[in-house]
Amino acid sequence: GSTLAAAAQESGRYFGTAIAAGKLGDSQYTTIANREFDMITAENEMKINATEPNRGQFNFTQGDRIYNWAVQNGKRVRGHTLAWHSQQPTWMEQTSGSSLRQAMIDHINGVMGHYRGKIYAWDVVNEAFADGNSGGRRDSNLQRTGNDWIEVAFRTARAADPAAKLCYNDYNIDNWSWAKTQGVYNMVRDFKQRGVPIDCVGLQSHFNSQSPYNSNYRTTIQSFAALGVDVQITELDIQGGSAQTYAAVVNDCLAVARCTGITVWGVRDSDSWLGANTSPLLFDTSGNKKAAYNSVLNAL
Ligand code: XIL
Repeated sequence: GSTLAAAAQESGRYFGTAIAAGKLGDSQYTTIANREFDMITAENEMKINATEPNRGQFNFTQGDRIYNWAVQNGKRVRGHTLAWHSQQPTWMEQTSGSSLRQAMIDHINGVMGHYRGKIYAWDVVNEAFADGNSGGRRDSNLQRTGNDWIEVAFRTARAADPAAKLCYNDYNIDNWSWAKTQGVYNMVRDFKQRGVPIDCVGLQSHFNSQSPYNSNYRTTIQSFAALGVDVQITELDIQGGSAQTYAAVVNDCLAVARCTGITVWGVRDSDSWLGANTSPLLFDTSGNKKAAYNSVLNAL
């Protein structure tokens, strides 16, 4: 294949990117994105604060712009994200207990209902675990509604859109030797054993000096897959942009049949949430292919 998407398709996989609605008027951006990628994630526009700014009042204007751009260009869409402690609207930040539990359920039903039958996979729950071995994060109002909140979110999601794959998505669960990875692994194993609906695990894969790529990444992917879920690399970026590390990530995904696709978290370095100076993506700020791009294309 001569593009990332075409090369990924040769092994039945996808290659995606995050898209910002505010950049859909930038023709260099949309030209690259349309040419290279076949799976689209809204960088912010399907999050809780964007889709339910007031309780019970949904707004899909920006999310639909991204959805429509993707589908009109023949691409699929990953939904991101339904239940998360971050980027909540103010009303939700100020809600707790059983009222928040119900708000979470209503939110999942509202957003998944709007996109019913149209989304490849939803990040149903995002970043629910704390770093280290302490389990559910204490700084999450959702966690404080009770330990079963993740399970409730997944059961609600399955009923709201039976066609979408349901993912648990997190960062710092890439390194197999880390306690957080083991915590999420144990949760997924428990869900599969008890029949809680879960179809995939999203490895965000934001690699930097604090949480660098480790060669046990392949073991992580294999181990989750062996539980009977797909694995998707959902938000890949590598600070410093090492071509060698990018190739290693691709090779690790390709080594596992149930690793179904890779998404990078932005198009050009200047589009990255990390800032262009960290050079984390596959295209430079002028839209040129970087060494990391060629390395990924060769590895696919
Ligand atoms: C980031 C976006 O890229 C930024 O534009 C926004 O300001 C903050 O969120 N983990 C996630 C993503 O799941 O939603 C985050 O995206 C990056 C970390």
